[in-house]
Amino acid sequence: MRIRSILSLAAAAATVVALGACGSDNSGSTSTSSGTAAGTSAATTGGGGGASGKIALLLPESKTARYESQDRPLFEAKMKQLCPNCEIVYSNADQDASKQQSQAEAAITEGVKVMVLDPVDSASAAAIVNRAKQSKIPVVSYDRLITGAPVDYYISFDNVKVGKLQGDALVKKLKQDGNAKGPIIKINGAPTDNNAKLFKQGSNDVFSQAGVDISKQYDTPDWSPDKAQSEMEQAITAVGKDKIKGVYAANDGTAGGAIAAMKSAGMDPTKIPTTGQDAELAAIQRILAGQQYMTVYKAIKPEAETAAQLAFDLLQGKQPSGDVVNGQTDNGSGQVPSVLLQPVAVTKDNVTDTVVKDGFWTADQICTGAYKQACAAAGIS
Ligand code: BGC
Repeated sequence: MRIRSILSLAAAAATVVALGACGSDNSGSTSTSSGTAAGTSAATTGGGGGASGKIALLLPESKTARYESQDRPLFEAKMKQLCPNCEIVYSNADQDASKQQSQAEAAITEGVKVMVLDPVDSASAAAIVNRAKQSKIPVVSYDRLITGAPVDYYISFDNVKVGKLQGDALVKKLKQDGNAKGPIIKINGAPTDNNAKLFKQGSNDVFSQAGVDISKQYDTPDWSPDKAQSEMEQAITAVGKDKIKGVYAANDGTAGGAIAAMKSAGMDPTKIPTTGQDAELAAIQRILAGQQYMTVYKAIKPEAETAAQLAFDLLQGKQPSGDVVNGQTDNGSGQVPSVLLQPVAVTKDNVTDTVVKDGFWTADQICTGAYKQACAAAGIS
């Protein structure tokens, strides 16, 4: 609530300036973009005055749709509103931790004043933070926690809750299907991602309390959908295609891989509930078609926009405006002031009330060709 009101104030103050901002450079894996609104307008930008400077945005991968299609553009747009004269130095590490290290070093050499970092590897990114600190560059840990180094802020979702929502939904569906104890296959995220540990923790708690039998479980390197597919193939061979009653997949990409494996083994995914996360368009379509049971919707807009606001505050050497920070997170190096947003479970029943209502996806985007009928049946038009 508090976060939303702060954001809307900032957004309102910046609307005028946004009209004058130019498009960003979208080419290559590293790029810079800057606003070109006249200096006089800068005074109207949410307190930015004539602020300027370079800000690094370092994202971890591009196989998961959210980073290039949502996190990056939403962060850039917000920054352009807040600080038309600021420049964003953007890089995507394509799941490669050492590439991310080099991208961070390059950004530091370019003279960034603040770094917003979503780490490929939560632990090894401590080296990036320590390097940034040598140059007095504050670091915002974005979406994934960086562990073992002094980061300035952490912005993410309640990630144990993400796992709990996935687990609760699957347990409920297994009961409805008369398969309360499973067995299920569990496809977790990347072992190097602190979030994956939290999703695992939240979901494992639910499964052990409900006494669900997990026949096979895997950590999926790089969160790669292809690897999830081969893990599921192995599970089907080991457990038997008629025995598996449900699949926990940690996100929509890995769910897509698991569902593809089930299809090629001749299994019917509409009969085997599968979880996910991210509310990706393809996942929402699969949910409507009955091929995926649920996903977790995390509103990326407030996450990206609040990160932009934090970065802008840090650029100006200010404390975050208002009481944006709503928690503290122990990252092994100390207590990190945190902004933790709430995730929401989505099944066929509440697609309209969640992602459509929020404009995360429009009915037109969801209800293309093959999904028209499923949309009509779910009352989405
Ligand atoms: C993010 C998820 C994403 C996954 C794979 C996690 O850290 O929270 O939204 O699906 O990484 O990139």
